[in-house]
Parts: sequence; C-alpha cells; structure tokens
Amino acid sequence: MVYIKSNRELEIMRQSGRLVAKVLMNLTKMAVPGTKLIDLDLAAEELTLSFGAKPSFKGYIGYRHSLCASVNEQVVHGIPSDRVLKDGDIIGLDFGLSYQGFHGDSAVTVAVGNISDEAKKLILVTKQSLYAGIDAARAGNTLKDVAFAIESVIKPHGFGIVKEFVGHGIGQKLHEDPQVPNYASGASNLKLKPGMTIAIEPMVNRGTHKVRVLADRWTAVTEDGQLSAHYEHSIAITDGEPEILTAWENILDDSESQVLINQLNERGKYGQRGTNPA
Ligand code: MF3
Ligand code: CO
Repeated sequence: MVYIKSNRELEIMRQSGRLVAKVLMNLTKMAVPGTKLIDLDLAAEELTLSFGAKPSFKGYIGYRHSLCASVNEQVVHGIPSDRVLKDGDIIGLDFGLSYQGFHGDSAVTVAVGNISDEAKKLILVTKQSLYAGIDAARAGNTLKDVAFAIESVIKPHGFGIVKEFVGHGIGQKLHEDPQVPNYASGASNLKLKPGMTIAIEPMVNRGTHKVRVLADRWTAVTEDGQLSAHYEHSIAITDGEPEILTAWENILDDSESQVLINQLNERGKYGQRGTNPA
C-alpha cells in the first residue's frame, strides 16, 4: 500500500532529509586517502545522534552499522570495516536516518584522491540518471516513466543497470511500497500522485549488470569485478516540480556539523581528514 503523506508529514520529511544531506556532505569531505571506512560509519552515527535523530540502517534486518560504504567493485551494502581508503578508489556512501518518526535515505559516490577518467564517467552518468529519474517523477507519470528516464541515460554508454536492488517508497518505514526499479521492463504502471515519497537509487556497473553477494551476506559486488556507482535521493511527488528531500546539492557549507567533526577529530577519534567537495 502506497501512503500519501500529509503536508505536516512532508514538513517532517523535509527536516529528516536535510539531516541526511548534512551527514552525507560531511562524509564526502572525510573520504580521502588514509580514512578508515569504520571512521566514516562512526562519524555518521555521532552526527545523527547529535541531531536528535536515529540511524535507519543500524539494526535493520540485522545490519550492524549506520552507513553502507561500498568501494570500487562493491555495488551496495558494503560493510564499514578497518579498510583504509586509497588514492584512486571510488566509494558509495549510502545513509539513512529517522527524525520525528520519518526516514530519509540518500547515497552519493565520490572520488578518493585522483581517479581514472572511466571512473569519473561512470559516476557522472549514474548521477545524471538519478536526476533524469527525479525529473520524470511527476504526478500523472508512472513508475515505468521514471525507470525509462533512468535507463535512457545509462544505456547509450553500454553500462550495466543493476536489477537485483531497487528504489522504494519511504516514510515512517525505511522501505515502503512501491518498489522503484531502474529499468523500464521491471517497473509497474503505478501512477504517481502528489504526496507520495520515494527513494530513487540507480546502481550502475561499468561492465555486466550482474552482481553477487559476498560471504558476509551483505556486500553486493559486480560479477566481473569492474567498478560500480550508486546515487540516491528521497523525493516527494508534488503538483509541480519533484521535490528533493535529501538535497545535499544545497548544502555547500555546513559549518555547524563541521564544528562537531573537528571536535571529534581533536579527541583523536578518527583518522586523517581532508576535503572532497561533492
Ligand atoms: N539505502 C539502502 C536501501 O535503501 C540501504 C539499506 S541497507 C540496510 O535499501 F542496512 F539498511 F539494510
Ligand atoms: Co534506499
């Protein structure tokens, strides 16, 4: 059942979305050579709690962390470990929190230091496909229109579109109806209505679309070991333009959170820090 959010509920979702964006933007700055994945997770959790919010993923069907951190050939659901980021890596940062009972969920893929032109192109195309999907998420259009828009951006490049994982409705639960696939043949003709809130999240592979899950039972990797990228926004369908609830694009200088991160840093809690503009 697809819930239609009231204006009051949408107002809360704007707030939770904004907090998600703040966390993600701070994590992108930390994603430099030398940073440990587990420190990204700790920072995500501390920031979230400092906002009076709760990490959505922690405890979700047994997941033990606040963040999914997927490096290189890892597609999604990478588990933050002691792994250290190195120059040339790409990392998908996928994060959700709930605030006043409503979830926000978003992901970005960022470059660690200098990356190959191939990797840059994959990241750019994935981001463009997300924006194309968002642009199609209008009242009267269907989920198939959204999926078709996403697919149309990716296909000309010959990249693989992941099918095993899909976007989803979002609200009082992290995952609500409907499922939001990133390929038209998998998407339904459900008509979008104002007040629906969905997370759109294309996962794009350089090579084959096929993925497998590692023995840790979470980490999804590309079957051929080539790179993968992931972007996600939680959005609201409106009478007019789609509204991005998790708009990290608008957060250029989050000095408030930066103060907290610096304090944690001074306490020697994390490894080295740097800048990695979104
Ligand atoms: N953003 C992902 C999703 O929408 C992350 C879920 S991971 C989990 O499905 F740990 F929460 F399961
Ligand atoms: Co999601």
